[in-house]
Amino acid sequence: MATINKGDEVLIPAPYWVSYPDIILLAGGKPKIVKCEEKDNFKLTPKKLKKAISKKTKWIILNSPSNPTGSAYTKDEIISLSKILLKYKKTYILSDDIYEHIIYDNFKFFTIAQIDKLKKRTLTMNGVSKSYSMTGWRIGYAAGPKEIIKAMAKIQSQSTSNPTSISQAAAVEALNGTQEFIKERSDSFKERRDFVVDSLNNIKGINCLKPEGAFYVFSKL
Ligand SMILES: Cc1ncc(COP(=O)(O)O)c(C=O)c1O
Repeated sequence: MATINKGDEVLIPAPYWVSYPDIILLAGGKPKIVKCEEKDNFKLTPKKLKKAISKKTKWIILNSPSNPTGSAYTKDEIISLSKILLKYKKTYILSDDIYEHIIYDNFKFFTIAQIDKLKKRTLTMNGVSKSYSMTGWRIGYAAGPKEIIKAMAKIQSQSTSNPTSISQAAAVEALNGTQEFIKERSDSFKERRDFVVDSLNNIKGINCLKPEGAFYVFSKL
């Protein structure tokens, strides 16, 4: 809402979190879906990005680890995408890192804001809903270019005003407190992931792959 003008295009690699297209429509933008393939672990490839991006692309949304696929982009994969994004200087990048800590098998999380030349047009989004199981507290946060954050604050201050101070205090505690339980939780999620993936693969007609650091489900029925 802070940046989209009517008809502005926003690239969304698919499969995507169900809310993205509607959030864009609500802001008056035009979602442009880029279908990603099972053979690529449902991730956006440089080839697909090159084909989809244009001067009309106002934003691209990246989400790693992804809901719904669970796929996560490696540092090398993000670097490959960034080479194309560097050429489109007017395109902003929204990096939805909300599943940052839900990773397995020694996967190393990497986010596009770590690419120096793209940092100034990347908006990194995160929240306490997933890693801290604090969904009901409704705290999300973003970091990015000053002018975008300022515009976002302007809209928020005239709409929701602010999240409750109680939730804010709880989120500060979650983020600044001990982080040891995150590894414990991830180990437990990994056990469940392995159980579900193995069980699914035992069902005829269902193929569920388990790439490093992620999981995803694909039905061939
Ligand atoms: C990829 C992704 N981004 C953002 C959110 C938003 O989470 P919340 O509204 O709980 O902060 C979700 C929730 O499911 C999600 O899957």
